[in-house]
Amino acid sequence: MTFAVFRGIFEAPLVNPYQFRLRHKDGTYRWFAWTGAFEDGRVYANGRHVTAEHEQAEALARAEEQLRHSQKMEAVGQLTGGIAHDFNNLLAGISGSLELLQTRMCQGRLTELDRYINAAQGAAKRAAALTHRLLAFSRRQTLDPKATNVNRLVGGMEELIRRTVGPAVEIEVTAAAGLWMTLIDPGQLENALLNLCINGRDAMPDGGRLTIETANLWLDDHAARDHELPPGQYVSLCVTDTGTGMAPDVIKRAFDPFFTTKPIGMGTGLGLSMVYGFARQSGGQIRIWSDVGHGTKMCLYLPRHQGDEDSTEGAAGLARTAQVEQGKTVLVVDDEPAVRMLVTEVLEDLGHTVIEAADSVAGLRVLRSDVHIDLLITDVGLPGGMNGRQVADAGREVRPRLKVLFITGYAENAAVGNGNLVPGMQVLTKPFEIQTLASRIHELTQPA
Ligand SMILES: Nc1ncnc2c1ncn2[C@@H]1O[C@H](COP(=O)(O)OP(=O)(O)OP(=O)(O)O)[C@@H](O)[C@H]1O
Ligand SMILES: [Mg+2]
Repeated sequence: MTFAVFRGIFEAPLVNPYQFRLRHKDGTYRWFAWTGAFEDGRVYANGRHVTAEHEQAEALARAEEQLRHSQKMEAVGQLTGGIAHDFNNLLAGISGSLELLQTRMCQGRLTELDRYINAAQGAAKRAAALTHRLLAFSRRQTLDPKATNVNRLVGGMEELIRRTVGPAVEIEVTAAAGLWMTLIDPGQLENALLNLCINGRDAMPDGGRLTIETANLWLDDHAARDHELPPGQYVSLCVTDTGTGMAPDVIKRAFDPFFTTKPIGMGTGLGLSMVYGFARQSGGQIRIWSDVGHGTKMCLYLPRHQGDEDSTEGAAGLARTAQVEQGKTVLVVDDEPAVRMLVTEVLEDLGHTVIEAADSVAGLRVLRSDVHIDLLITDVGLPGGMNGRQVADAGREVRPRLKVLFITGYAENAAVGNGNLVPGMQVLTKPFEIQTLASRIHELTQPA
């Protein structure tokens, strides 16, 4: 790399300083920034000693990363209290519906069963969405910028925001039709949005209204100068509250790290500085409008991205499920009896034969026997000393063409390679819909 850069000097002057390190006699490294040019058969080069700057930049990056992390954990902390409570409510909805279902069946009142089934399913879906968001949110690593549909992102956060701000705050979402795409780190934008909403909630101790609004925006030269942005097309995301508002001197300092007007232990003063950092780093901007006593509006401006949304998993293939196919033999390994029963019933409905195993040892015993098996369905977290991935790998040693479907809780994705799986292996995340399970089984049992 370094040689290539220096060779490049013969073709074009090296204007942007190129940094590389040399080892000092004492074993530590020193950094130099080089510029250079080639003229009349001579190379003129200029190297500047920049070790101090380099170390400073690294320390800054480290500190920023820590800041982001602590900010995120703070927000997660804010969430968990309310969520345990909400979760119990959802569970009550599920178990209550099941109980009533049982009662009505005993009474022979079979016409009203749908209601309870729907109620239980609805609550289970909301609970699943909630845990999913929570887990996604608490993941530590910062994600890459992706072509993102901000409307969709806001929609995905709505439930979480609602639960975070509590019932005293009414939430209104106004999503612009035909909103442009933007290239940002979706995880960080979610974090920023949640921070703005938490600020809004804190400014409305007696409740009020929080409006989340998206829009397309064209900044001409003049408007762009006002916003300290290059002219062009932007997507705006604004959060407005009907709270206390901010005095001019508070507005001026709001983005400063550690600036807070909240009592000790209530605020770190890092929320807005993080949002600001994220907006600028994404080529955007954030602006505040506020009047004491009249509430606050904060807007994020994010540059438009020309291009399609980075595709998430399509729903294709879901439709063609229920047809009964050639009976196959499937080994199901899961320590949770309810999941095993569910999977088994789906398989049997599809006309397959099922062998069940409750742990890795039992599963492996079947795999090493000479029973015919077309497909292995296994949980990733398993008792018995091996995880599902290891069981599958051991199974493939004796059955190289064994098809595998992993069923996993979200957090275990790493154990199965974060989705980078060899052909013939697939992952299904818990909780899943029966339809999805059926279509995965169908896909995997098709002849290649
Ligand atoms: N929507 C708002 N309404 C009124 N004041 C606000 C609003 N948002 C921010 N502020 C003011 O700006 C200050 C800084 O906000 P910031 O989000 O950076 O820190 P914080 O909310 O105090 O602490 P943290 O976000 O770390 O919990 C707040 O203490 C508050 O005084
Ligand atoms: Mg805050």
